[in-house]
Amino acid sequence: MKTVMEKMRDTINEDGIRRAGEILKRGGLVAFPTETVYGLGANALDEKAAAKIYGAKGRPSDNPLIVHIADWEAIYKIAVDIPKEAKLLADAFWPGPLTMVLKKSDAVPLTTTGGLPTVAVRMPNHEIARALIRSGGGYVAAPSANTSGRPSPTKAEHVAEDMDGVIDMIIDGGDSHIGLESTIVDLTEGTPTILRPGYINQQMLEDVLGRVETDRALISEDENIRPKAPGMKYRHYAPKAELFIVEGEEQNVREKMNRLIEENKAAGRKAGVICTDESSSCYHGGIVKSIGSRADEITIAQHLYSILRDFDEMDVSVIYSESFDTPQMGQAIMNRLIKAAGHQIIKA
Ligand code: TXA
Ligand code: MG
Repeated sequence: MKTVMEKMRDTINEDGIRRAGEILKRGGLVAFPTETVYGLGANALDEKAAAKIYGAKGRPSDNPLIVHIADWEAIYKIAVDIPKEAKLLADAFWPGPLTMVLKKSDAVPLTTTGGLPTVAVRMPNHEIARALIRSGGGYVAAPSANTSGRPSPTKAEHVAEDMDGVIDMIIDGGDSHIGLESTIVDLTEGTPTILRPGYINQQMLEDVLGRVETDRALISEDENIRPKAPGMKYRHYAPKAELFIVEGEEQNVREKMNRLIEENKAAGRKAGVICTDESSSCYHGGIVKSIGSRADEITIAQHLYSILRDFDEMDVSVIYSESFDTPQMGQAIMNRLIKAAGHQIIKA
């Protein structure tokens, strides 16, 4: 299959959006930008189209998709028994990086929900995404547009690396602003529960709803507790080189990482370092990459996945990363980084 690359970095191209919408309506696949990461879209209400997503990603069929909408009213067709919390959250955070799990209606095929009686719904805050959803019929199922097991794409180039020749179209809208997938909150049982941390954190949700919990599987060290979001059980991504997180007092971390770089060098191995603008001049002898600035935590979120992809192209046998426990997105950033590191943490 020939994959068309539609460039819309500077301005949205109405004709391109119309053609992309036609592809979705006849059951094809279009990758598109959102404010979190790029999505791989198909008509969510068309079972065959949704099934194609699992094929293109190599994704297990029990891992449900998020249905993207562009207008609040659209929710009534795909969800039933919608609790008042959903409207409160929508008023506060939609369009935006928040996904809500609700009871599904019969209009949503089980293929879209991975066999579950619930449906995850999100209204993205991105002009291209919303125009595409409207043009494609109003309901776009879209997981992140990466091959299963790779980091989510934050640039159209990342999507092309994984999906060129496999899908009908990629819309290039430039770099994703947030860089990490949306926060998922389950509203189907008891207290609202965070199933995946993201830009919208627990405090922000509690400011609107009162009490909110976090899925125990996300905070427990016990790996036998099953996460409630099926996708969270998969070890998302492991870089080719072994990845370790080095934690502790700032000065101790810097000294420890420099010692580790030296030890590797002595053994004939090249080490990579993931650090910040504030610390990058402190590391010597390794391949040092700054992920962003601690003074502007969104820059750290924005670059996490692309830095992990970059290191796969480089000749390093081991990567050491600082820890990024930042105020708003720290939980989300560390959730992804700890998974990529397979829970390998060195205390400095
Ligand atoms: O930011 C995002 O949410 C991006 C963009 C494209 O919108 N999408 C995204 O989709 O990250 P995906 O498929 O990579 O992640 C969806 C997650 C998975 O962990 C899946 O298990 C969970 O949402 N999920 C989907 N439907 C669910 C449901 N009904 N109940 C529980 N978890 C669900
Ligand atoms: Mg994903």
